[in-house]
Amino acid sequence: MTSSYFGELQPGSRLLLGPGPSSVHPRVLQAMTLPVVGHLDPDFFQVMNDIGDMLREVYRTANVMTMPVSATGTGAMETACANILEPGDTIVVCRNGYFGIRLGNIAERCGARVHTIDTAWGRPVDPQALDDELSRHSRVKAVGVVHGETSTGVLTPLPEILEVIRRHGALSIVDAVTSLGGHDVRVDEWGIDVCYSGTQKCLGAPPGLAPITLSDAAMQVVKTRESLVQSFYFNLQDLESYWGLSRSYHHTAPISMTYALREALRMLMEEGIENRIGRHARAAAALRAGLEALGLELLADPQYRLNPLTTVGIPEGIEDGQVRGALLRDYDIEIGGGLGEFRGKAWRIGLMGDSARDRNVLALLSALEQILNANGYEVAYGSGLAAAQRELAAFSG
Ligand SMILES: Cc1ncc(COP(=O)(O)O)c(C=O)c1O
Repeated sequence: MTSSYFGELQPGSRLLLGPGPSSVHPRVLQAMTLPVVGHLDPDFFQVMNDIGDMLREVYRTANVMTMPVSATGTGAMETACANILEPGDTIVVCRNGYFGIRLGNIAERCGARVHTIDTAWGRPVDPQALDDELSRHSRVKAVGVVHGETSTGVLTPLPEILEVIRRHGALSIVDAVTSLGGHDVRVDEWGIDVCYSGTQKCLGAPPGLAPITLSDAAMQVVKTRESLVQSFYFNLQDLESYWGLSRSYHHTAPISMTYALREALRMLMEEGIENRIGRHARAAAALRAGLEALGLELLADPQYRLNPLTTVGIPEGIEDGQVRGALLRDYDIEIGGGLGEFRGKAWRIGLMGDSARDRNVLALLSALEQILNANGYEVAYGSGLAAAQRELAAFSG
């Protein structure tokens, strides 16, 4: 068999406006082409130091234990649960979408007793409901909550939730996979114990690493647990020895991906965290205005909308696959379909990281206008675009 049998790899050049991955800036891709060094090379140690420092800035924390897990976001969910929870421990998981359900599922697999509070899709987690649930159980070790629910486009305000968790003496496990870099996440000020994210969303790198941070108190719980962490790969006590002072081998770090994360974080530092968050807010506001002008229904509670991800109802008579297929085939634009309860009923439009730009909002709305008209849902050409442009002109942050 010759190498030409398989052909040259030529993935399409897409505009990624789905739930992640987001489009990756050429600077970040370029970083991945740099020479691979060993994971115990002093040059790589410097890369690790830089990443630790920059992640602490993004998470707004002084936590020593701040590192990227070699995995996507789900690996960080596993890391958080596997290290904090021991068999028989009790956790309350707040579920207001698909990823809350996943968190509960993972906690259960760690042998924990899982209690849940379920909130209607499209609504944020209710602090009172959490308070009531926590009052029903003794010795709750942890509470899991998703900050930005990517399945529904809802942002749950964290400070009040965290206050409830603290009052009941539990540890907080916060999923910031979609919110980190796109919304304020203040680990120390808000008192988050464990917080994790993913590289492929608002941080602007490819999928493959999952930054996590743990408070000293949370690390103390990890270090004094009675049972072994079931996972060798995600065991933070051992990972600490590689990412901490001793730099001893645990597993081979994904070198090129780590370069990419460093460059993505460097770009975030150059832009400034506030500016990055502001850029996400601006793009989201324009998108929402444009979609509403097209007569489409936004599914998240207006007071709690997640800027990096907008859920929009698919109009009656329009076939989900037709529209997403045409966007990809004719315009090279990817958006996401609905998950769980929203499957077939919603589109998920992501404006994350380098994808969160005015020009991308306008390109998507323009394409959507064309495709919706072609599929029998009549909209006035330019109506969505005009509304988005008015929003951009008026946007004041
Ligand atoms: C909120 C949230 N949590 C967790 C995950 C899981 O991350 P991954 O798909 O990178 O494993 C996702 C992925 O979209 C997510 O949006």
